[in-house]
Amino acid sequence: MTMTIILRLQKQKPMSKVARTSVSAEAYGEWNKKADFVAPVYEKTESQKSRIQSCLQQCFLFGALDNEELNKVTLALKEFVVNSETEIIKQGDDGESMYLVEDGVVNCTKCIENQETLVKTCSAGDVFGELALLYNCPRAANVKSEGPTTLWELDRGTFNSIVKDAAVNKRNTYMGFLRKIPIFSNMEEYEVMIITDALKVETFKEESYCVIQQGEAGAKFYIVAKGECIAKRAFVPQQEPREVMRHKIGDYFGELALIKNEPRAATVVTGAPEVQLLSLERKTFQRLLGPIEDILRREMQRYD
Ligand code: CMP
Ligand code: CMP
Repeated sequence: MTMTIILRLQKQKPMSKVARTSVSAEAYGEWNKKADFVAPVYEKTESQKSRIQSCLQQCFLFGALDNEELNKVTLALKEFVVNSETEIIKQGDDGESMYLVEDGVVNCTKCIENQETLVKTCSAGDVFGELALLYNCPRAANVKSEGPTTLWELDRGTFNSIVKDAAVNKRNTYMGFLRKIPIFSNMEEYEVMIITDALKVETFKEESYCVIQQGEAGAKFYIVAKGECIAKRAFVPQQEPREVMRHKIGDYFGELALIKNEPRAATVVTGAPEVQLLSLERKTFQRLLGPIEDILRREMQRYD
């Protein structure tokens, strides 16, 4: 699936000569380049560093970095202040940087059927401009500041040498999987990518391990990636819970408490010796799955 995206993005505009040269250099000399690369250093105050790092840690792209790598990336970020209505990225251009929003709002638009269409709004803590660097393709959207905006800019060299591999691997692994799940199948490709990025992989090596306890507050939403889980429900207090559903690969659970803001309606335990679940935190679930809340609500009828 990720390949489909790459090909589709590449069709929009051929890469310039310069960019093509750098792509093939990357393919042949990847290892040497990484070993030799020295990331730039832009000194920062302690409070800037800690603010940047707490944003980076929330963002999938940087999720796999150790502390030393995170420090290098933090120092390599260059402050970039723009006025209102400034074009930061132009669709079709080659990309040399990606950005983290420190303060302000930027709008991502795309030309769809000859209409400039808003596809995403990014505010403090969000990143953009990562696609061209991840997939060596032209910029997939226009990005413009709404008001005065402060950004942190990360260069392609630092991104490639420290960040890229882990992020690409995760997208490649889970993007196709999510696309096959009916609730995600009609979502825009970029939205599914962002959900993929936000997923945490949790592995359970014990059968009958309690993932969710009926009556507790809900903190996460889960998708079964391997094995299965069993939902059990007590219909009156003190009653022994009885099995109400088996959640198999590609099924999701834990959505009710997050959508309805109620305690967990059932207990869910692992139903195999090895179970892998993909989870989304409550806040991320609400932000990213907001667009499909209607579908999730309709699907709740399956529990009646
Ligand atoms: P990039 O293609 O490098 O530059 C434009 C950026 O817009 C892109 O990376 C994404 O970070 C961002 N963007 C936001 N929404 C979309 C979308 N629906 N499709 C493509 N890019 C998007
Ligand atoms: P939630 O209430 O957040 O946590 C327990 C989950 O078990 C629930 O969301 C559903 O996703 C799932 N579940 C499976 N079968 C049932 C059922 N019959 N009633 C309620 N929840 C169920």
